[in-house]
Amino acid sequence: MNLRQGEMSGLGAGAMSCFRIRPAEPQDCPEILRLIKVRGTVRCAGIFPSELAAYENMPNAVKLTEKDLLEDGFGEHPFYHCLIAEVPKEGQTGSSCIVGYAMYYFTYDPWIGKLLYLEDFYVMEPYRGLGIGSEILKRLSQIAIKTNCSCMHFLVVIWNKPSIEYYVRRGALDLSTEEGWHLFRFDKENLLRMASGE
Ligand code: COA
Repeated sequence: MNLRQGEMSGLGAGAMSCFRIRPAEPQDCPEILRLIKVRGTVRCAGIFPSELAAYENMPNAVKLTEKDLLEDGFGEHPFYHCLIAEVPKEGQTGSSCIVGYAMYYFTYDPWIGKLLYLEDFYVMEPYRGLGIGSEILKRLSQIAIKTNCSCMHFLVVIWNKPSIEYYVRRGALDLSTEEGWHLFRFDKENLLRMASGE
């Protein structure tokens, strides 16, 4: 399903309040990519413009393709897992629209062992405040506990005050201020240089 903003008008208030969270399936990749692009442009802009404008004006910020998503998430050794939120499409029994997602994977800390890393978490603007995000966090917490993870880590950019407050209200600790962590990156150029032993 390739849902565009204009088609959203087909979703009534009833449909919006009736959502379902489920693990993503291979056929969801195009819709996941659509949401990643919206989320990516918002992240790059550093503000919260209207989603339609973000989607139309900066669609090239995300380099990932549907093929990448398919291969990396649904192969023998998935690099990521994904939960999606969907709502029924009004007037079309059995048809639904994807309105949010959480991408996560498992990582390992030599002191505490397994942890769940929440890489991306997004609910489309018209569907916020309905409890979709809370339900996704509940599902992620259940997954973390079931897999014996000690905690859930995630990054939030400093200007994203609403999300920082959202997490802090739910008990999250800011490790940058609590423990002084900084995020570093070796980009591809560095990797190539180090890999070649220069
Ligand atoms: N829009 C946004 N938030 C609203 C709202 C609205 N129309 N109406 C109420 N809220 C408040 C709610 O009171 C609630 O806060 P509280 O439960 O702490 O009191 C919170 O905002 C929304 O809770 P909920 O409905 O469970 O979450 P959500 O479905 O709105 O999703 C996010 C939460 C963070 C995923 C969503 O806001 C989002 O996608 N933000 C942009 C992307 C982003 O910043 N992601 C996180 C980056 S790490």
